[in-house]
Amino acid sequence: MAKNKVTKAFFCQNCGAQHSQWMGQCKSCGQWNTIVEEVVDRGDVPKAWESSSTRSETTNHARTLSEVEFKLEDRSPTHDGELDRVLGGGIVPGSLILLGGEPGIGKSTLMLQLALRIQRKVLYISGEESERQIKMRAERIGIDNQETYILNETQTQKIFREIKEVDPDLVIVDSVQTLTTQHIDSLAGSVSQIRESTAEFIQFAKKTHTPVILIGHINKDGQLAGPKILEHMVDVVLQFEGDQNHVYRLLRAHKNRFGSTAEIGIYEMAGSGLREVPNPSDILISRKDGNLSGIAIASMMEGLRPLLIEIQALVSTAVYGTPQRASTGFDTRRLNMLLAVLEKRCGFRLGAKDVFLNVTGGIRVDDPAIDLAVVAAILSSNEDIPVPDRNCFAAEVGLAGEVRPVTRVEQRIMEAEKLGFDTIHISRYNKVKPGDYGIKVKMIGKVEELFGELFG
Ligand code: TYD
Ligand code: MG
Repeated sequence: MAKNKVTKAFFCQNCGAQHSQWMGQCKSCGQWNTIVEEVVDRGDVPKAWESSSTRSETTNHARTLSEVEFKLEDRSPTHDGELDRVLGGGIVPGSLILLGGEPGIGKSTLMLQLALRIQRKVLYISGEESERQIKMRAERIGIDNQETYILNETQTQKIFREIKEVDPDLVIVDSVQTLTTQHIDSLAGSVSQIRESTAEFIQFAKKTHTPVILIGHINKDGQLAGPKILEHMVDVVLQFEGDQNHVYRLLRAHKNRFGSTAEIGIYEMAGSGLREVPNPSDILISRKDGNLSGIAIASMMEGLRPLLIEIQALVSTAVYGTPQRASTGFDTRRLNMLLAVLEKRCGFRLGAKDVFLNVTGGIRVDDPAIDLAVVAAILSSNEDIPVPDRNCFAAEVGLAGEVRPVTRVEQRIMEAEKLGFDTIHISRYNKVKPGDYGIKVKMIGKVEELFGELFG
């Protein structure tokens, strides 16, 4: 190694690829303006292993785990049941939480609501809305809190000065894309600005044990806008999602250093802010007056939570030459596959029919366990006979028309029982004892059998 020679290289801040020279677009990931020159060897610092002969007093020393004092992390409850559930029981001191979501989904509302509800001193920093706009929103939410401070600022040095003044217990920043730090000479929202400003907030959080929540925009692929490395830097990544035209919103953790990522929170956007939905199955099933055909209830899982949702199908004779197949909330290719299975295995002439499918509540479902409910809804609409009352379904349907077992079937059965259903149809290949439950558990092996069970 040549001594005192500084070695530099160019790295993409998005994917980490190394390049021999600066260029506008990274050849490896295709991102623009992400290549930055970095010093990889300062030359004057000896290699780590060359300098390790003496142990200095100031560095951290290796310890056995048993020497480490364990303190139950005192999380602050947020007084929002859904948020607490997703965070794993509250906000951990010194943690950095990133909340992402599409514009207009309700990120600012959720955070302002948290600031007003949590019984701590909160500094809500907004670079997106004026103080008056925030005040208007707070009035809509209808909570008054003397401990909620508002700051309209985007420059991090000025923000930290105010933070010293106010000394809050929680800092919320709306949004990370508006922040600028003096150390970097580029526009707000650029990769290097986002990375540097976030790094400053991380240092602040770790040093002062004050938790920080950063709101982040997402780009058109649904990824958090900014450097990918952001998600590695922070402790928790939350995603707020939902269909803007519907009132329900889902909060998920994509990453959580202090809890499970399988939990979800469900909210309803109301006139006065976001309302928690502790018992989602109740509202996702419409209370039908009289029995209608084409409706079936599926017992699905959303993360670790069982949910009962309503599937609606409409089968009618195609008016035009080519029959239409459309679905909302369910994969259209999967719908076509299920229709082909019904045609081939059960001999239903659905080829000349229009088929429309709808998952109520504006929820998108990927759980394959709703297949059997989809099939039941289609058959019911085709025959114009309602599915028997208080029946629900939880099984996948395979290409051979076989009814396949699904995961966590016990939880699905229990949820259906809890909500007052009296029969659940599952796969014969799920290893459960039907006698163990208060609800009737019907085991099915093939889709053909379903027809006989329901309408025979
Ligand atoms: P907002 O929190 O501004 O979204 P984001 O910060 O993610 O961009 O919320 C936007 C929508 O929420 C807006 O279109 C209006 C609606 N809304 C309500 O329906 N009720 C309310 O009480 C509030 C505050 C907002
Ligand atoms: Mg906003």
